[in-house]
Amino acid sequence: MKSKIVIAHRGASGYLPEHTIEAKAMAYAMNPDFIEQDLALSKDNVPIVIHDIYLDDVTDVATKFADRKREDNRFYVIDFTFKELKTLQVTERFNPKTGKQVYKNRFPIWKGNFKLHSLQEEIDLIQGLNASTGKNIGIYPEIKEPEFHKKEGKDLTKVVLKILADFGYKTKKDNCILQCFDAKELEKIRKELKSDLFLVQLIEFPEEVKKLPHFATYANGVGPWYKQILSKKNGNNWQLTSLVTNAHKLGLKVHPYTFRADSLDEFSSFEEMMQTLFIDANIDGAFTDFPDKVVSFLKEKKRHK
Ligand code: G3P
Ligand code: CA
Repeated sequence: MKSKIVIAHRGASGYLPEHTIEAKAMAYAMNPDFIEQDLALSKDNVPIVIHDIYLDDVTDVATKFADRKREDNRFYVIDFTFKELKTLQVTERFNPKTGKQVYKNRFPIWKGNFKLHSLQEEIDLIQGLNASTGKNIGIYPEIKEPEFHKKEGKDLTKVVLKILADFGYKTKKDNCILQCFDAKELEKIRKELKSDLFLVQLIEFPEEVKKLPHFATYANGVGPWYKQILSKKNGNNWQLTSLVTNAHKLGLKVHPYTFRADSLDEFSSFEEMMQTLFIDANIDGAFTDFPDKVVSFLKEKKRHK
């Protein structure tokens, strides 16, 4: 693995609706090291590439299947067959309550004819492109909400591990990184299911950072929210937390999320964000909606080393 990797977060999602096959093809052409797949199961056990267990933030499910919402007013991937899911139109992420798109300068809402797809379809695309281009871009699947799936009587992990193995992703050498926010599930994947894949423990809450020594007993890396690496800003300089140093001491790689050039919060530019986290904090990779910008930043840095 390269010393610093670029992970196309939901594809080239800064330019095309997230997790569409088009966003994945565009990401591929931008030369990231990995392309991400968030996964939720359909009613007939097909792993669908989608960020949430719900459909209503990125599709027209509320108009096509109005009577299929649950009591909480949400439409769940798991309540629909793969055939039904294929009839939905996918669009740029929006707030289902207001109908407004979340990132207003991105691909216009409801434009185009995008569809959902399965994990197998996406791996076919990436492996096909690897064959036709001679590149070797990896996959970075995420098991979404394993507990929810279990309550629904389904084992998402089991389905995903079988598909990964069938496509040749079995060990750390196979250009696949498996990620999950649920620590119990990821630990089980290593210790009970004996997976030899490269595993990344995602970190959502700040209090989880102190569990790094435990994560190191089964994971090869961690994926924190990037703000967990930042302490405070003094003038133009960022003070950093000890997260990256501590993780490195334990042999863990650090791949924070999410680098968005159009949502900078505390940074004055995307360049400042990349410089602070990649160079000053010495992270090992990043999830980004703008793989082209991060690839070119790292290329430039290498040249000036
Ligand atoms: O999986 C890491 C990254 O994708 C951030 O999480 O919520 O976008 O899946 P999320
Ligand atoms: Ca993810």
